[in-house]
Amino acid sequence: EMGSRLVQELAMSGRDAPTSYIQRDPLRQINSPPHTSAQVPVIDLNRLSQSDGADESVKFRDALQSWGLFLAVNHGIPSSFLDEVLNLSTEFFHLPLEEKQKFANLVDGKEFKLEGYGNDIVLRDDQTLDWNDRLYLLVQPEDQRNLDVWPTNPVSFRDVLHTFGKNTQTVRAQILRAMAKVLELKEDCFVKQFDEKANMYARFNYYPLCKRPDLVFGLKPHADASAMTILLLDKEVAGLQVRKNAEWVDVPVFPDSLLVVIGDGIEIMSNGIFKSPIHRVVANSEKERLSVVMFSALDPEKNLEPLDELIDETRPRMYKTVKTKDYLADHFKHFAEGKRTLDFYKI
Ligand code: SIN
Ligand code: FE2
Repeated sequence: EMGSRLVQELAMSGRDAPTSYIQRDPLRQINSPPHTSAQVPVIDLNRLSQSDGADESVKFRDALQSWGLFLAVNHGIPSSFLDEVLNLSTEFFHLPLEEKQKFANLVDGKEFKLEGYGNDIVLRDDQTLDWNDRLYLLVQPEDQRNLDVWPTNPVSFRDVLHTFGKNTQTVRAQILRAMAKVLELKEDCFVKQFDEKANMYARFNYYPLCKRPDLVFGLKPHADASAMTILLLDKEVAGLQVRKNAEWVDVPVFPDSLLVVIGDGIEIMSNGIFKSPIHRVVANSEKERLSVVMFSALDPEKNLEPLDELIDETRPRMYKTVKTKDYLADHFKHFAEGKRTLDFYKI
């Protein structure tokens, strides 16, 4: 019966968090405030592409190398549209349970599917669970969408997600070209890796109130197995933290921005120059929180490996070659075990 749990139902029941949600890692440091005044970098994507944008490029390169994430502004997506995405997502999670269950990721309450509404897969009895419910959907390639788990309520949900996927793809291309530029490589060397079979998944996260944010995570520490992740975060409630110089740094609330996170895929392709950061979400006892996360990965059949241009005597190859779909499958197993997938592919 563990498989059919929904955090929203648990939260509404008023019961204490079951022990399966309690973090056992003594190093969890859930409430330790950072000692650093370091602030998550903010990058103006428009300036980055302009001829006088040299200072922005320096900031951008530093963000990719020392943080592995940044807040993107002037990304070209209208803020009214971003608001619509957030509002529709909130509406979906606030629907009655029976309505959301029409798109459930569990068939007959048991057989787990990656896509749909529910929770992450439970692979082990001793797995520590996270305080969130999510809706997970393949957005690209378009002809592989499973529309049976795409909500029809709110009515504009599908159209808006379709458009958001397109917008995300445009922002992704902008960033991938800028990455090539700061490494003085051919401008399309990253962007061309994402062909028409490249996968984009949307993950809508809903974090209900939690009575014990000192013991339970919204989302446990992890790095993204994607190549790159583009997130639309809650406009009022913070909660995401990134590991930087052995401390947890808050990602601030920053309306109308997008958060860009380097995934393991780009770390591998860049031969370790760009970093895939460890991050987590803390739970909140006063306010619920929402995020919309767009994961980009290569074609599942395509190999993930360092670009030839980034391997030489001074910088030997740092990662083994792995098929994208094998890496992702590994990641789900390792996530359940609290392990870092990338560590298994380092040379
Ligand atoms: C994540 O996708 O790792 C976190 C998303 C969030 O900020 O809720
Ligand atoms: Fe993540």
